[in-house]
Amino acid sequence: MTDNADLAALIRTIPDYPKPGILFRDVSTLLLDGEGFRKTIDRIAAMVATDTQLIAGIEARGFIVAAGLSYALGLGKLMLRKPGKLPGEKIGIDYQLEYGTDRIELHKGQVTAGQKVVLVDDLIATGGTALAGIELIRQAGGIVEQALFIVDLPELGGAEKLRAAGVEPTALIG
Ligand code: PRP
Ligand code: ADE
Repeated sequence: MTDNADLAALIRTIPDYPKPGILFRDVSTLLLDGEGFRKTIDRIAAMVATDTQLIAGIEARGFIVAAGLSYALGLGKLMLRKPGKLPGEKIGIDYQLEYGTDRIELHKGQVTAGQKVVLVDDLIATGGTALAGIELIRQAGGIVEQALFIVDLPELGGAEKLRAAGVEPTALIG
């Protein structure tokens, strides 16, 4: 794979955020760099399976990745939203993450049965968020076999959990 050290250098680490002991990988510094963001999207876009029909992004940072890929590939994007944001009929799932618990929701009828969906986010840590997203898309009838991230924190085991769930995770960094 491409050496993504150039992109890794654009991501800063903030200790003890949002809780003591957490090393927060802050992609806001990468997003400030136009060329760095373009390279990020181009490199992830090159990994998206050719039969992909829809890009699913998880609120909030995942939306930025999903929007870039959707534009680059000419594919639609699906918003997996934090609770209380979707106006239409929805399904939802609660999950745990490295520093708390949360919930994501999906509009009913926005994934069709058998549709090939790639899940994207800025980062995978414990995998709780990505697994919740995969579960929701599958409940809606979609097929998820690939998940793509800018950063993987392998020591937190998320990528392994995705593999066990039948999804191949790939990250540019980590
Ligand atoms: C972060 C990140 C992923 C998730 C990864 O989002 O963007 O979605 O945590 O953690 P996990 O693998 O342990 O589930 P966060 O919930 O902090 O929300 P944000 O995108 O709104 O900042
Ligand atoms: N989401 C979950 N864990 C994280 C971390 N260490 N840095 C940034 N985002 C995260």
